Amino acid sequence: MIVKAVELTRIYRLGSSHITAVDKVNLQVDEANLVSIIGPSGSGKTTLLHLIGLNDTPTSGKILFNGDDTSFLSESERRKTRLQRMGFIFQTFNLLPTLTALENVELPMALAKFSQKEQMGKTVNLLETVGLAERLQHRPKQLSAGEMQRVAIARALANNPSLILADEPTGELDSKAGCEIINLLSELCKNQNIAVVLATHDERMAEVSDVTYRICDGVITLE
Ligand SMILES: Nc1ncnc2c1ncn2[C@@H]1O[C@H](COP(=O)(O)OP(=O)(O)OP(=O)(O)O)[C@@H](O)[C@H]1O
Ligand SMILES: [Mg+2]
Repeated sequence: MIVKAVELTRIYRLGSSHITAVDKVNLQVDEANLVSIIGPSGSGKTTLLHLIGLNDTPTSGKILFNGDDTSFLSESERRKTRLQRMGFIFQTFNLLPTLTALENVELPMALAKFSQKEQMGKTVNLLETVGLAERLQHRPKQLSAGEMQRVAIARALANNPSLILADEPTGELDSKAGCEIINLLSELCKNQNIAVVLATHDERMAEVSDVTYRICDGVITLE
């Protein structure tokens, strides 16, 4: 088991009103599983991924990561866990525009203090894995949307994560590029033993996922 959420709740308070964005969520993510969380806009998907990714702290409930209760981690331990154990993929790619594909993928390795030599060899391998061996020196604006998302996937793999969190990774892509990205994530899951949690509106995800959760008004149900 990679992740277990127990009665996870996140309430946003704005003045006198409050929104329960994630409401007593229980979920489990196992090794090498592709887990999708499908729900409409505003249902709490991004909030839930932020909690699982240790980018936010729950109002109540807890998250176990590799069996350890993350409630007791310090901010620096949370940062280290994110950097060394998790990879993140976003709808709008979040690549640094002035860096090449290679440099974007190197960044998390540099932050994790890999040597220059280790970074170089591994980066080229990762970009080959995502089918971009011919695009190493391209900057984001010189790439198609599907290619940018591939660079982001290579970056997410940089530090050998056990978990990848993907928030609407196909939201900006046409249907063909979207399918290719889903297939790539699904292959990585099985070939590299990485768990992937993917939040989406896209009903087609239910067909390719190992486990599907539905989320509505912060409440999750297992399909
Ligand atoms: N920082 C915040 N402060 C207050 N309310 C917030 C905050 N972030 C999100 N919300 C509210 O929490 C609810 C869930 O938002 P969230 O972004 O998690 O939904 P989502 O499922 O990711 O939506 P989308 O599909 O549009 O990305 C929404 O009602 C939203 O307005
Ligand atoms: Mg969202």
